[in-house]
Amino acid sequence: MIDLTQAVNSRHAVFHGPDIDQGAAVSYDSSLIAATFFADSVFQLDRLMPQPAVDLHPFFTALDEIEGIVDWSNIFGNENPVELDIGCGRGKFLFDSSVHQPETNWLGIELDYTEGRRGARRLAKRDLANGRVIGGDAHQFLKNHVASHSVAAAHVYFPDPWWKRKHTKRRLFTDEFANLLSRIVRHEGFVHSWTDVGDYFEVISSLMNHHPDFTPLEPAPEPAGIDDEDYLTNFHRRGRKMGCTIYRGLWKRM
Ligand SMILES: C[S@@+](CC[C@H](N)C(=O)[O-])C[C@H]1O[C@@H](n2cnc3c(N)ncnc32)[C@H](O)[C@@H]1O
Repeated sequence: MIDLTQAVNSRHAVFHGPDIDQGAAVSYDSSLIAATFFADSVFQLDRLMPQPAVDLHPFFTALDEIEGIVDWSNIFGNENPVELDIGCGRGKFLFDSSVHQPETNWLGIELDYTEGRRGARRLAKRDLANGRVIGGDAHQFLKNHVASHSVAAAHVYFPDPWWKRKHTKRRLFTDEFANLLSRIVRHEGFVHSWTDVGDYFEVISSLMNHHPDFTPLEPAPEPAGIDDEDYLTNFHRRGRKMGCTIYRGLWKRM
């Protein structure tokens, strides 16, 4: 019977010579060498195998793990108002809001799992009980899992512009999306949307300004960008550093 632990321990000695610090005389019998090669293969295999993703529950939940309409008090453990950050990216706004507005529950929804998990990791590091991320498509989440008039506000910052004409149908903000916002945002609640893409802002404004359930308001002020953190989101920082105009919209649900 080969002792694999012994084989693993003597792996160094086989490949790099005896460990003289221990003053041990290593004798290399053939079965031990064979086992050592086996152990080395296990090491190599282990390095090549994808490491299991760190379990980020409850900070990150994939959409396909969710059944039915979500109960916000189950997710957050309280009855505080809920605000959504739709397309939260790596979650700067979500994280800052969770830290600075602890009386509100903040939920990010992000299609790109890598970005969403990155945001969730920041929340987890601070153990922020009022910040969570759902990984998946916001349309599906809002349509199938969010109760009517159950959120205090929805934030949609710097949605992907999909520049090419043939791709514009992939944009997040559509008639259907405005209707979804109207259904999930509570009366007297808010929708905030900023972008650095002028023509997309015209589309968003037109959809929201003409929607019978929303009325436009003066948008929230823009952070001054005094230091690298003094931006609303990562794409806000990027847009400002590139010298882009930032278009800001705020609408109230009637
Ligand atoms: C340009 S980034 C902006 C990220 C962040 N809001 C910011 O301002 O830094 C747009 C984000 O929306 C996400 N996104 C696009 N379509 C989405 C959808 N249908 N559901 C959820 N997220 C979506 C993208 O994956 C991307 O992370």
